[in-house]
Amino acid sequence: MNIEKTPILTKGKAFEIAEKFGTPCYVYSQEALVQQAKKALEFPNAFGITVRYAMKAASNKNILALFDRLGLHIDASSAFEVKRAIMAGIDPTHISLSSQQLPDNLEEIIKSGVKYNACSLRQLEAFGRLFPNSEVGVRINPGLGSGGTNRTNVGGPASSFGIWFEYIPQIKQTAQKYGLKIIRIHTHIGSGSDPLVWQKVAKMSLDTVAQFEDVRILNMGGGYKVARMSDEKSTDLQKIGAPVADLIADFAKKTGRKLAFEIEPGTFLVANCAAVLARVQDVCDTGDGGYEFVKLDTGMTEILRPSIYGAQHPISIIQKTPCDEVKSYIVSGHCCESGDILTPAPSDPEGLSPRPMAKATIGDLCVIGGAGAYCSSMSTVNYNSYPAAPEVMLMPDGSTALMRRRQTLEQIVQNETDI
Ligand SMILES: Cc1ncc(COP(=O)(O)O)c(C=O)c1O
Repeated sequence: MNIEKTPILTKGKAFEIAEKFGTPCYVYSQEALVQQAKKALEFPNAFGITVRYAMKAASNKNILALFDRLGLHIDASSAFEVKRAIMAGIDPTHISLSSQQLPDNLEEIIKSGVKYNACSLRQLEAFGRLFPNSEVGVRINPGLGSGGTNRTNVGGPASSFGIWFEYIPQIKQTAQKYGLKIIRIHTHIGSGSDPLVWQKVAKMSLDTVAQFEDVRILNMGGGYKVARMSDEKSTDLQKIGAPVADLIADFAKKTGRKLAFEIEPGTFLVANCAAVLARVQDVCDTGDGGYEFVKLDTGMTEILRPSIYGAQHPISIIQKTPCDEVKSYIVSGHCCESGDILTPAPSDPEGLSPRPMAKATIGDLCVIGGAGAYCSSMSTVNYNSYPAAPEVMLMPDGSTALMRRRQTLEQIVQNETDI
């Protein structure tokens, strides 16, 4: 496995960064982030496109500010994310909130200019009470979903996300009661969705739009697949987007309504733009018929996806002293937790899948790729009292910039009180 081939880190850079910032550490490539943003902004559309970055994927303010400079808007998943984006300098009118939880401070948020997608009938009712005779979006569960794993499928009867499509009469009733105009239909059906299912849902969403005469925006969420491993396939945005742009153009011909289109990618924008840089801190085995383990100084505290989804991430050992020997390892995290495994069987977090890689020796570095999305923002941070790892941006000129310091033990315990 040749690290020189990975787009994020060369061997030399990996040692330089480990020396300067320590391990474990997240390393993002600004060049790769810019490249992905540009691709997303070229998403086919008939009457205009807004690309909202699903900031839950990686929430560091420097990433938000970079995407903001490039013209992306924000998809926030909680009132806290809204505030975090505003603190990062994002114009509130560029933020849209689609949240599982009804925020206590909804009134303040909406008054600041943030757009709202009601994600349940209760949320729509609460919005109507606060802002009668105004405009709002609704998130619909179209009855069909698709995800890279069952857990990341958020459409269909097994998902609580959005308002079930059969409840459109109740949406209309609530809208009428408060004089609300439904101006945006939002559907996000899962992460790592099958492109064909996504296109089918686009058609279904237009049928929903047809039932609301004031709708002028269709937001199809995110979920575009990204190949982290060489045997996975990325979704081609041009390919899936073009037929949907045609559908929207047809809809305009039939109805005279030119819908603005929105997408909310998270994974697509950041997944392959970062790696976790770690160090091999032990190597052991369980005898004949057992396994060989590489133990790292990272794990579910920085990268949880393998443990909960059986997600696959590319893993490369960067040897201090090069040798050609390849070995098959289970790569294990540093937590005192049996689920802290970085090489589970695909989509089966309980299964083990030994992976061939360069022979590991204590002190070698290890690069876990595809770690830009749902890693630094979604981990068991502070489990076993490990401090949150630093985040480093690799700049286009090869220099590095620290964009989050390593947490200290004092910061972990700072909110504890004496009783
Ligand atoms: C409403 C909404 N939009 C966008 C996204 C981003 O999805 P992805 O990172 O798969 O593109 C999500 C992910 O959960 C979501 O719930």
